[in-house]
Amino acid sequence: MKVLVIGAGAREHALAWKLAQSPRVQKVYVAPGNAGTAHEPGCENVALTAFPELVAFAHTEQIALTVVGPEGPLAEGVVDAFRAAGLRIFGPSRAAAQLESSKDFAKSFMARHHIPTARYRTFSDAAAAHAHVESEGAPIVVKADGLAAGKGVVVAQTLAEAHAGIDAMLGDKTLAVQYADGTARVVIEEFMAGEEASFIAMVDGRHVLPLATSQDHKRLKDGDLGPNTGGMGAYSPAPVVTPAVHNRVMHDIIRPAVEGMAREGMPFTGFLYAGLMIDGAGNPRVVEFNARLGDPEAEVILFRLNSDLFELFEHAIDGTLDTVEAEWDRRAALTVVLAAAGYPHAPQKGAAIRGVAAKVDTANGATHVFHAGTAERDGQVIVTGGRVLAVTALGDSLRSAQRIAYDAVELIGFDGMQFRHDIGHRALKIRT
Ligand code: AMP
Ligand code: GLY
Repeated sequence: MKVLVIGAGAREHALAWKLAQSPRVQKVYVAPGNAGTAHEPGCENVALTAFPELVAFAHTEQIALTVVGPEGPLAEGVVDAFRAAGLRIFGPSRAAAQLESSKDFAKSFMARHHIPTARYRTFSDAAAAHAHVESEGAPIVVKADGLAAGKGVVVAQTLAEAHAGIDAMLGDKTLAVQYADGTARVVIEEFMAGEEASFIAMVDGRHVLPLATSQDHKRLKDGDLGPNTGGMGAYSPAPVVTPAVHNRVMHDIIRPAVEGMAREGMPFTGFLYAGLMIDGAGNPRVVEFNARLGDPEAEVILFRLNSDLFELFEHAIDGTLDTVEAEWDRRAALTVVLAAAGYPHAPQKGAAIRGVAAKVDTANGATHVFHAGTAERDGQVIVTGGRVLAVTALGDSLRSAQRIAYDAVELIGFDGMQFRHDIGHRALKIRT
C-alpha cells in the first residue's frame, strides 16, 4: 500500500516514520515534507500543496489512504475535496474542523452540549471589549478568533495586559487573525487555574479510540515564561491524567463532543484533541479543541505506539474503531523542540544545522530527530521555519527519557538555536 501524509512539520515526520514501519505500507509520500522526511526510510517528499494536485496525485499513485497533519488544509476543506473525488482520507470535514478553526463556534458548541469550559464572550468592537475586561477584572484571557498557531492568546494577569491584548487584536491588528473581509474578533474568557494536559483521540464519526496522554510546554522559556508558542516540548504519559481524570474526560468532554457533532450533522472524523485544564480537585475543563494531532504531542505519542498505525487508520476510515485497541510502550517518551532565533514572532531562516544526522541508541532507550522547519540546500540542512527539530527519546522513566533527549540535543546546533531546558518538569515534580 502507498499512503500520503499532508504537511511539513515534525508531527508529519512522526506520522510518516510510524506509517513506514507498517508491514502493509510500501511507500509513504509526504506533501510537501521537509529534509527529515526526504531521508526517512520508506518515505519520499512530493512538492505539492494545492488540493486539485494532491487529489490528482492520490489517484495516479493509487494512494490507499491519506492523513492530514496540520489545521490549515483541514479548515480549507481538503477532506471534503478528497472525499468528493472518492478517495480515502482521515481527517475532519471543513464543517467539523470548525471545532478548531473558530473559537466562537467551539465555544457555542460546548455551551450547547454542556461541555465544561471557561465562560466567554466574543467582541468585534474594541470599546465594548475594553469595557468588558474592566467589569470582569484580571486575571482574564484575550484570544484572537481564528487560526493563530497558538500565538494569538494573551493570558493577562493585569487589566493593562488585557487592554494591550485587545488593542493588538482589534486596534493595530499586530496580533489579529483577520477574515477575508478585513474584520477581526476577540474571544474574552474566564481565566482557569490548574495544570494542562493534551487528550487526543481518534474518532470515526461515532466511535472513539483514546490515544496515550501527553503534556505540551507552550511558553518559549524555562519555567513556563515568555510568549506562547506552538509548543516547545512534550512528554507522554501525563501523570496529571489519572485513571479517574481519564474517565471524566471521556464522559464529560470527548463523548458529548463526538455525539454533539454527529447530532448537528457534522460527524467528526479525525484526531480530536482536547486541550485540558485540570484543577486541583481533578475537574477537567476544555481550554480549546483542535481537529488534528498536536505538535509536539504527536512525536511522543507515536513514539510510544506499538500498534500498526496504518491499521488504525483503516479502521478509522471504515468506521470500525470500536473493534480495535491501541497498544502502548510502557516506557516514557519526551521531545525537546529546537527553535530558530526570533521564534515565535520573527523566526530567522537560513542558518546551517550541525549534527542533525545524530541518532543515538542506548540500551534503555532510543532517540529520533523529527524535522520541522528544515530543507536541504547543496547537501547542507538549513533552517526554514520557526520550530526546526523535535529531538525525541524513549526511556525507562521520564527522567531517563529526559536525559537521553538532552544528551542528543547536545550534538545539534545552529546559530540562534533556542530550546527549553526543563521539558518534563511538572511530571518530574509530581513523582519526586
Ligand atoms: P489556546 O491557543 O486557546 O490553547 O491557548 C494557549 C494557551 O493559553 C493555553 O495552552 C493555556 O496555557 C493558556 N490559556 C488559554 N485559555 C486559558 C484560560 N481560559 N485560562 C487559563 N489559561 C488559558
Ligand atoms: N502543541 C499544541 C498544538 O498542537 O496545538
